[in-house]
Amino acid sequence: MGKFIVEGGRRLRGEIKIQGSKNSVLPILAACVLVDGVSVIHNCPLLSDTDVTIKILEHLGCSVMREGHTVTVDSTGVNAFDIPDTLMREMRSSVIFLGAIIGRSGRAEISTPGGCEIGLRPIDLHISSIKKFGVEIAEEHGRLECSVPDALRGTEITLAFPSVGATENIMLTAATARGTTTIINAAREPEISDLADFLNGCGARIHGGGEGIITVAGVDSLSGTEHTVIPDRIAAATYMFSAAMTHGTIILKDIIPAHIGPVFPVLEEAGCEINIKGRELELTAPPRIRRIHKISTMPYPGFPTDIQAPIMALTAVADGTSVIIENIFESRFKHVAELIRMGADIKTEGRMAVIQGVPYLTGASVVSPDLRGGSALVLAGLAAKGITEVSDIHHIDRGYESFEEILCALGASVKRKA
Ligand code: EPZ
Repeated sequence: MGKFIVEGGRRLRGEIKIQGSKNSVLPILAACVLVDGVSVIHNCPLLSDTDVTIKILEHLGCSVMREGHTVTVDSTGVNAFDIPDTLMREMRSSVIFLGAIIGRSGRAEISTPGGCEIGLRPIDLHISSIKKFGVEIAEEHGRLECSVPDALRGTEITLAFPSVGATENIMLTAATARGTTTIINAAREPEISDLADFLNGCGARIHGGGEGIITVAGVDSLSGTEHTVIPDRIAAATYMFSAAMTHGTIILKDIIPAHIGPVFPVLEEAGCEINIKGRELELTAPPRIRRIHKISTMPYPGFPTDIQAPIMALTAVADGTSVIIENIFESRFKHVAELIRMGADIKTEGRMAVIQGVPYLTGASVVSPDLRGGSALVLAGLAAKGITEVSDIHHIDRGYESFEEILCALGASVKRKA
């Protein structure tokens, strides 16, 4: 499963370019199924999650060519409407294909994605929303069998929670439905705007992407387009923390500062200096990170749940006591036990963690519990005394391209061992 060997105690300094967004490219690649033509996607990160997504596209009959960070998808030959259980199990977020497959083929068969390391990950909002388009969905034996007896018809949907995936699936189902769809309480994450931009580039008529109310006027068909994926705001924040925790300085190139906005006040409270020039950001850390009174994860534009684990690693070596509340996923504290093995002083009670900063962590062997928890453990190793061995790093490879190479380019010592 692979390990990272991290030698702590080095200041991180340097300049890096941020990868394309994992959580943007996955729904955009899925959206290619809706397009009867060729789409060219630039800035596609090299991740195991994108590998699985491409396997699903090919299973559905698309021909996919990848040259570096550019993926070309020819979906004229779509000839299937199912996703095999094996591929669903490799990546539970494949549920995002549902709306696109239904929109293209009028039917879909996938296995219910099931939970993952950070929670049960129900899809009730996806199912109840898609049914409102006139889709019949039979759920049995862990399979979802979807059919459209008549035609997909636009509708009005109010989401009980601004679910990112449900918003994306509704947009994909609505894009070629008859009539107009309105999504109320839509997710406002930047990845939603990026998906809307891609679909509009294909001829869709989506207004309000990234806002709380989105309208989609269905069109008859979509044609191929060329699109550049937005930078990954979660990866950007993760690398910012790596410099902050090691009294370093870092310059991030090719970011969209507004997408990382929720992080700035938190890092400034911790004593970091942040300067922004266009799509470039420079962060300078204080000699020692100060505590962060309270972090509450929220839907965008609140503090992102995906950087809760990495910032917890940062607070573990801060001067003072910090409080983190995880409001989005019910079991996203699996990295706490591993951080404690490294000498962190953390107490949890339900969705709240109280972190008493310690002067330094000590290297230990730890296990990545999930994608973002794994990145947090590597960051903790950077700030620890001695050697930290982080195993099960396949989780990390799902979301961070060239993670160890980038950290080493900043002066860290992170070696991959098979
Ligand atoms: C997306 O997951 C991201 N994944 C997640 O990133 C991210 O943490 C999450 O949005 C929140 O920002 C991708 O984009 C591929 P949700 P998604 O639907 O769409 C509950 C990472 O580390 N819910 O907004 O699954 C759900 O259980 C990953 O990159 C329902 O109850 O997130 C959770 O508590 C992790 N019913 C909350 O809503 C539903 O039908 C947020 O989920 C759907 C969701």
